[in-house]
Formats: sequence, C-alpha cells, structure tokens
Amino acid sequence: MKKKLKTVSKILGAIAIIVSVFLIYVQISYKKQFKVPATGIRASKDSAVVARGKYLVMGPGHCWNCHAPDGETNLQSGSKVGMIGGKEFKLPFGTVYSPNITADTVTGIGGFSDEMLAQAIRYSVRHDKTALVPFMSYNGMSDNDIQAVISYLRTTRPVRHKVKETTINIIGKAVVRFVLKPVFSEPAPKPFIQPDTTSEYGSYLATSVGNCVGCHTQRDKNTGEFAGSKFAGGYQISVSDGTFTTPNLTPDSATGAIVKWKAADFVQRFKTGAVYPRTPMPWKSFQTFTDNDLKALYYYFNSLQPVSNKVTVFQQKVRD
Ligand code: HEC
Ligand code: HEC
Repeated sequence: MKKKLKTVSKILGAIAIIVSVFLIYVQISYKKQFKVPATGIRASKDSAVVARGKYLVMGPGHCWNCHAPDGETNLQSGSKVGMIGGKEFKLPFGTVYSPNITADTVTGIGGFSDEMLAQAIRYSVRHDKTALVPFMSYNGMSDNDIQAVISYLRTTRPVRHKVKETTINIIGKAVVRFVLKPVFSEPAPKPFIQPDTTSEYGSYLATSVGNCVGCHTQRDKNTGEFAGSKFAGGYQISVSDGTFTTPNLTPDSATGAIVKWKAADFVQRFKTGAVYPRTPMPWKSFQTFTDNDLKALYYYFNSLQPVSNKVTVFQQKVRD
C-alpha cells in the first residue's frame, strides 16, 4: 500500500514539475514576435488622401467605436476628445484596453513608423511585432485606403493619455503564445480601390472596412470563427439589460431584415441612426456613410444567396 502511494506521489510530482516548467515557459515566452511582409505603404500629406482617411476613420471604419473610452458617444465633438484609447474589453482570459491612436509621440502612435501602422491594419500585428488580439478586421483593406487612414491619423491632435495595461491570465498567455498570429487576407488585398456603387465595392465595404460580416454572421463562441452563412445574422452580443441577436441581411423573402426595403429606405435607415439605445452597432459612425457607399452595400446584400434565419433582435433580461 505504502509503495503504491509513493509511486502515485512520484507521478503527481513529475506532472507538477512538467506543468510548472510549461507555465514558466509560457510566462516568459508568450510575447512572440512575428515577421510579416513590408507593405511599403507611406502616409501622404495630400489633402484628398487625408480627407478620404478621415471619412474612413470616423465613418465606415468606425475606429472611434473602440479607440475612444466611451466609444462613439463623442464622435460628433470628434477632434476635441480624440481617439485616446482606454476602452475596456473584458474577455474570458483577461482585460484588453484599446491603445491611444492619437499622434502623441509618448502615449500614442506619433512615434510609430508608417510601416508599423500599415502592418497593424493589414496583418494585425502590434508595433512591436507581437500579434494583436483580433478586434480589427481591415486585413483586406486596399493599399490606398490604408494609406488614407494612416495619413489622417498623422494629422490628429496629439493627446497625452496613458492607457491602462492589458492584463491577461496564464490561460490568456498560452492563447497569446500558441493561438494568436498575424492574419493574411484571402484573397490578397488590392493595391487600389475606387469607390463606386457596384456590389463589388459593397462587398469590400461590408467585409474589409465596416466589418458588417463580423457582427452579422453566426460565430463560434470560443474561437470567433464564422459558424454560419455570411451575413445571415444570428450572432449574439450581450449588453447590460439584455441580448442582441444580429439580423439577417441576406435577401430571404421571409426572414431577411432588409428584403422589403428599397435602396432609398436603406439609405434613410442609416441617416436615422440607432433605434435601440444600447445597440452595439456603431450607428453614429455609420450615419456619415455617403449615399453611394450605402447603395453599394444595399446592392451587395441583395446579390447574396438568400438564407433563411429568423432572429429575435433584442431579448430583455428577465430580472429576478
Ligand atoms: C472593434 C474594436 C476596434 C475597432 C473598430 C478598431 N480598433 Fe484598433 N485596436 C483595438 C484593440 C482592442 C487594439 C489592441 C489589441 C491588443 O492589444 O491586442 C487595437 C489596436 C490598434 C493598433 C495597434 C497599435 C500598436 O500598438 O501597434 C492600431 C494602429 C489601431 N488599433 C488602429 C485602428 C484604426 C485606424 C481603426 C479604424 C480604421 C481601428 N483601430 C479600429 C480595437 C479596435
Ligand atoms: C458591432 C456589431 C455590428 C456591426 C459592426 C454591424 N452591425 Fe448591423 N446590427 C447589429 C445589431 C446588434 C443590430 C440589431 C440592433 C439594431 O438594429 O441596432 C444590427 C442591425 C442592423 C440592421 C437592421 C436595422 C433595422 O432597422 O432593422 C441593418 C440594416 C444593419 N445592421 C446593417 C449593417 C451594415 C450594413 C453594417 C456594416 C456597414 C453593420 N450592420 C455592422 C450589429 C452590428
């Protein structure tokens, strides 16, 4: 009996040592650096390029929604507040804070090179070459639009604001070490994209700029991978007083949210803005969408294969 116990404790001891070595390894090596291709994209001072960047940042790209502490609430007073970061994202493995992306050289992106910024947007790698937690989905953005975005970022008022450090637990560190990696868009991003009202351009806006696809598609809760037909809705987002389920944007005659709308109705819906007070959809940013961009989106959604998926958009939390 004693002998048996001894063996068991020996085995347990060995396991404990292996686990500890693994944890120490994760602890010291989780910040893995990656090598990604150079984009060659450089900021420009051309006023048309900067204006395009401002439109993308404040409108379709909705950067304010995550890079301002209270999201897009203060978007209209825009440049006064600034994209000073610090919005909190609570994840199962830790708390991530969005960085300050104003032009401040100490606490913002003022000290980062154009290449660092372009690689963050295209490949989801941080300026120090570690992988970003994949909140952003601009990996398919064209060279000229990335150029526009970083050109505008260079013109923003620098605001000194040190953001809280992201805190991740040991499981999070293992995720960072073994799961997170740079993202490579498939198909490869285009060097140049010209806005127009075609459904091709709508597809670009929906997947590589506005991230309609990220919210309006069912996704796996653990991995975030797409788990349903694209744009058929069904993705759930909890807020303080209930749960939103994203509507189906495909043209299914019975369950499609916009199937009965004309292009003008779609445009008007975006001008109106949020109807639900706590909706996670960045309606304020999207209110600045040009009519032409909205038409492109509308034609694109209507060109999709209809998928039947009935959703209840908002379910109030039952108080107990
Ligand atoms: C859905 C939320 C979200 C949106 C929208 C968003 N970001 Fe981010 N961004 C984040 C978070 C969170 C991080 C930090 C992630 C991490 O620490 O791993 C980040 C990181 C970055 C970084 C990396 C900074 C560094 O240290 O290298 C840059 C640059 C950036 N964002 C720019 C932008 C721009 C430009 C836009 C709009 C075109 C944008 N972001 C839109 C959430 C968002
Ligand atoms: C952060 C998540 C998120 C993103 C990004 C997002 N949506 Fe939504 N969307 C929602 C949610 C949640 C709802 C349901 C609540 C509401 O109507 O605000 C919704 C509702 C809608 C509706 C239905 C409105 C109505 O009155 O019935 C349309 C149309 C729509 N989204 C289109 C889009 C388009 C186009 C994009 C990209 C440009 C987009 N969404 C990006 C979450 C998102």
